[in-house]
Amino acid sequence: MLDERSELETLREIYYLTDGASGNWRKLLALGDCLDQQLKRKLLWVWPTSVDLDYFNQLLDIHKIQSILSIGCGSGLLEWLMTAAGGRKISVFGLEVDRNWWQSKYSVRSFIPLNYVDEASQLETDLLSSCCNNISPCALLFCYFNNRRAFQDYLRVFQGKWLILIGPLPALGIHTDPNPVQPQLPADQWTLRERLNWADCNVVAFYEKIA
Ligand SMILES: C[S@@+](CC[C@H](N)C(=O)[O-])C[C@H]1O[C@@H](n2cnc3c(N)ncnc32)[C@H](O)[C@@H]1O
Repeated sequence: MLDERSELETLREIYYLTDGASGNWRKLLALGDCLDQQLKRKLLWVWPTSVDLDYFNQLLDIHKIQSILSIGCGSGLLEWLMTAAGGRKISVFGLEVDRNWWQSKYSVRSFIPLNYVDEASQLETDLLSSCCNNISPCALLFCYFNNRRAFQDYLRVFQGKWLILIGPLPALGIHTDPNPVQPQLPADQWTLRERLNWADCNVVAFYEKIA
């Protein structure tokens, strides 16, 4: 039974399925369906379906979003799935804290280019302005993020106009901050443009900066 396969073996298969040449996101989703909850969570908090990814990529297309900076991306596997399912039309970068963990032998590898907040005091500002310039519309993504103060700090230096929040429906009882449905954004600065209901009671909300 797949549940009983060793974690190492499963990870090896995931690394193979996400490898540049052989990358196969549909097989990865099918494999995800068979994993036990603990390993699933270790890899990412939201496992979308192929239909979820399709709608998501359609919205990126409609709003001409060409790059995404994912804050607190963890392994970046969700972001890898997004780009692979979308035909690699967008660029995705990740930003994480705690380099020691992400580069340790206990952690899973990163599936997208990853930067660390600790690199330099100016890093966040540099990253945000280089990824998100006025030439190519970009979005800041937070998935299952849970740090209000850091969220506000990132928003303060963000130059782009799209904010994508992914998280649980409030009724699910899992706390994230921001929550995509009740993000507590200043209403005169951000407006909700799109909302997708993803698998397992997760919500994806696109907010646009209006001021
Ligand atoms: C619950 S995990 C979600 C990981 C991933 N987005 C997912 O959906 O699987 C929250 C992540 O936010 C990261 N994080 C917390 N504070 C952060 C900060 N100030 N800047 C960047 N990342 C941060 C944590 O290291 C952690 O990996």
